[in-house]
Amino acid sequence: MDKITIAIDGYSSTGKSTVAKQIAKTLGYVYVDSGAMYRAVTLYAIQNGLISKDDFNKEALIYQLDTIVLSFKFNESLGYAEVYLNGENIEHKIRTLEVSSYVSKVAAIAEVRQKLVAIQKRIGEDKGVVMDGRDIGTVVFPNAELKLFMTASAATRAERRYQELKARGDNVSYADVLKNVTERDYIDTHRKESPLVKAKDAIEVDNSNLTLEAQFEKILRLAKMTIEDGE
Ligand code: DC
Repeated sequence: MDKITIAIDGYSSTGKSTVAKQIAKTLGYVYVDSGAMYRAVTLYAIQNGLISKDDFNKEALIYQLDTIVLSFKFNESLGYAEVYLNGENIEHKIRTLEVSSYVSKVAAIAEVRQKLVAIQKRIGEDKGVVMDGRDIGTVVFPNAELKLFMTASAATRAERRYQELKARGDNVSYADVLKNVTERDYIDTHRKESPLVKAKDAIEVDNSNLTLEAQFEKILRLAKMTIEDGE
């Protein structure tokens, strides 16, 4: 059975990664979280004093891009690959509200996108990949056999992210999380470089009122149909 490429795009906190991981596991495909790469570069910028509340030294970040080495290592117990920044597992450090609050600014830089898109295309060369992000169906894999565009209301998404952060023990308020979600929506859809848009041939999935299970079943059905169509 020939493998296909599955591109999942959409607004932040629409549950893209949850369903992408489930689908990859079921089909025996590789799951790639492209947002983790933008978060990793953002963590690098924070750790090296290049970005703060009132300052962003873009030129220095662009200059230092070649020294940022990103890699993935498969974690058997989790069932997917975790991201490493210059050899360090940073999976936990990149999921904070601090990284979330700067990541859209970093992701708007053309040079950052070029570097990360090149890595993403390389990972997907042999197909059998489920990748989620904002420009996967439009820029990274414009020929993907299956493209999904996930949506849900901002309030639903903020509530999900808030519960996630609280469960990890982060001290955040719902209002701050909602503010972050709407700010990122704005920057992600209005940036000059590869803004978040629904690819013409993407199937929209609004999961505001879908259980995780119903969403998984729906997308798995679409994936199986697409695989069979190609045979
Ligand atoms: O999926 P996420 O929330 O972890 O992504 C973090 C940020 O990275 C998001 O606000 C926009 C950016 N991003 C992007 O610009 N392009 C991608 N393919 C993935 C993420």
